[in-house]
Amino acid sequence: MKKKKTINSAVVGLGFGYLHAKILKNNKKVNLITVCDKNKKLKKYATKLKCNFTNKFKDILKNKDIDLVTIASYDNFHYEQVIECIKEKKHIFIEKPFCQNKLQYHKIKNLINSNKINFSTNFVLRNHPKFLKIKAIIEKNKIGKIYHVEGDYNYGRLEKLTKGWRGKIPFYSVTQGGGIHIIDIMIWILKSLPKEVFAIGNKFCSLNSKFKFDDNVVSLINFQNGVTGKVLSNFGSVTPHDHQMRIFGTKGTLILSNNNLEFFSSRNPNKKIIRMSFSKKNNYKKKILNDFIDSIYNKRKIKILSKKEIFASMKTCLAIDKSLKQKKRIKFKI
Ligand SMILES: NC(=O)c1ccc[n+]([C@@H]2O[C@H](COP(=O)([O-])OP(=O)(O)OC[C@H]3O[C@@H](n4cnc5c(N)ncnc54)[C@H](O)[C@@H]3O)[C@@H](O)[C@H]2O)c1
Repeated sequence: MKKKKTINSAVVGLGFGYLHAKILKNNKKVNLITVCDKNKKLKKYATKLKCNFTNKFKDILKNKDIDLVTIASYDNFHYEQVIECIKEKKHIFIEKPFCQNKLQYHKIKNLINSNKINFSTNFVLRNHPKFLKIKAIIEKNKIGKIYHVEGDYNYGRLEKLTKGWRGKIPFYSVTQGGGIHIIDIMIWILKSLPKEVFAIGNKFCSLNSKFKFDDNVVSLINFQNGVTGKVLSNFGSVTPHDHQMRIFGTKGTLILSNNNLEFFSSRNPNKKIIRMSFSKKNNYKKKILNDFIDSIYNKRKIKILSKKEIFASMKTCLAIDKSLKQKKRIKFKI
């Protein structure tokens, strides 16, 4: 059998991207060739990773040997870096959000559909044991037909808006930066896409700071299958970082809060609530990138999420931001 080609890779942005680099380094199907950052920690990280380094993204683009680029730079650089990688026919794994506005969205979508490159994004929560448990309960039909779903992305890291790059770049959306994970989970468990949204927001928590946009956005979502949804992107929450979810079905209800998952199968207040257990292991963040690598190596489709789903969650965020701005319900097609 012909030996498969090892994938040569590079990473841009070594914050969360340092995890990308460690995953690439530990995957036998990949060579980590180089890492790129503007920060002075670059050399230290490259030494630890035993790879080359550069502070110029163009060096990655010029290197014809590099097949895969993973992007974890600031959100305002994502669009340009994706476009440049597509031009150079490099596979792309990009942090969310892969773009910031409608024009960028359509440009990327058209180019991805007309080029033979693999493209995915880092929806790490799909592999979190708590969401895998929720998905398994739903697939076993334990809660019947779902009619309403709610999810909160309680960020608990306000200083990243008020002191970090998120408050300095020209535009930052808490829905694109946080709520997108919850929207993706909803699309995944409902197997249905959003078709209409309405959003309101405020900025009590970041008032008088550099951050100019709403830090708290709540959105209502109408799904194509008739299910109603509500997503909270709550970046000022006085809580640790947490994801909460309430899923209401005709036979039962699931409530996820503070890493506890409760299952209600009755309306009787005296009936004992069932607490569901799931693994507390923290290695779930590696799986989506490793699956992406495997899809390139074995020339197969990505297992964990489809291209349609990647574009659907992004488009929903863009519609939510439009609704917030125009104070109107926004209908859209994916
Ligand atoms: N999937 C997830 O769960 C998850 C978690 C955290 C962050 N993220 C995403 O990762 C991206 C980065 O966020 P972060 O929290 O790691 O930020 P960070 O500030 O911790 O790290 C970003 C790094 O990228 C570098 N950088 C930025 N723009 C660059 C450019 N054009 N060229 C070279 N280097 C550049 C910065 O110098 C910095 O070192 C964001 O898009 C964010 O949404 C995703």
